[in-house]
Amino acid sequence: MNNKVIIVTGAAMGLGLAAAQEFAARGAKLVLVDYNKEALEKAADEIRKELPAVEIATYVADVSNEEDVKGYVALTESKFGRIDGLYNNAGIEGRQAPLTEYDLDVFKKVVDINLMGVYYGMRYVIPVMQKQKYGRIVNVASVGGIRGVVNQTPYVATKHAVSGMTKNAAIEYGKDGILTNAIAPGAILTPMVAEAFKQVNPGNPAEAEREYAQRNPIRALGQPEHVAKLVAFLIGDENGYVNGQTIAIDGGESNLYGNS
Ligand SMILES: NC(=O)c1ccc[n+]([C@@H]2O[C@H](COP(=O)([O-])OP(=O)(O)OC[C@H]3O[C@@H](n4cnc5c(N)ncnc54)[C@H](O)[C@@H]3O)[C@@H](O)[C@H]2O)c1
Repeated sequence: MNNKVIIVTGAAMGLGLAAAQEFAARGAKLVLVDYNKEALEKAADEIRKELPAVEIATYVADVSNEEDVKGYVALTESKFGRIDGLYNNAGIEGRQAPLTEYDLDVFKKVVDINLMGVYYGMRYVIPVMQKQKYGRIVNVASVGGIRGVVNQTPYVATKHAVSGMTKNAAIEYGKDGILTNAIAPGAILTPMVAEAFKQVNPGNPAEAEREYAQRNPIRALGQPEHVAKLVAFLIGDENGYVNGQTIAIDGGESNLYGNS
């Protein structure tokens, strides 16, 4: 990934930060985007400390705001002159509730961030990649973009939408040298998943985590570093022909039917 210019959204923690660290270790130049300014600067400093030679720009943006997205694209072009990769990762889970009881404001917020945020990213990055006749996009779906997940209707709806938009980008822009794929992580131990375990068992989130891990075919949760290595492949030159796929990274859990 030497000198490739990669944008990472939701880069302040979790999957975004782990991927940024992996890309930096492989020689990429980074534009890190997040709406949590403090955590974003801390994440960038962490990477600079580990790898002082890496070139990093940060941009505070809410990916559900179209102007903010135009802003991170403009910054990347003015600072680095091109965009080789977009890791369209920022997303939220929303609250957990049955479909008929779901809070409508939260529902709309999940749609704005998970669906529109990913769409705006592609909408404004793809024209830059078309001019270069080169680009790699990785959108973050979820196992909830392949299957239903109880009490998470807007999350499941938006992650299926991410998978759908990925197919469309792939078939419309493959001719321009742009490969677009999605990943579908299962339960990966990030701050978002730690928060979900608190909602499932507020008194004992560690117990919820243990129970969840026991349901997985390999009896463990995933780590952000596992996901980072898959994304580094898809978003780099090593990927020459994977396009339009939603690739599960979940220990095999999405193949499970009945007891494991
Ligand atoms: N962790 C998992 O097990 C898992 C599983 C499936 C899918 N995912 C997806 O992976 C992505 C990252 O999840 P994570 O677990 O690292 O979450 P996280 O909450 O640990 O980190 C998400 C980061 O995105 C940022 N962010 C959220 N909304 C934003 C917005 N509107 N604009 C800019 N930044 C925003 C947050 O500030 C945070 O830094 C999400 O799209 C999530 O749905 C995660």
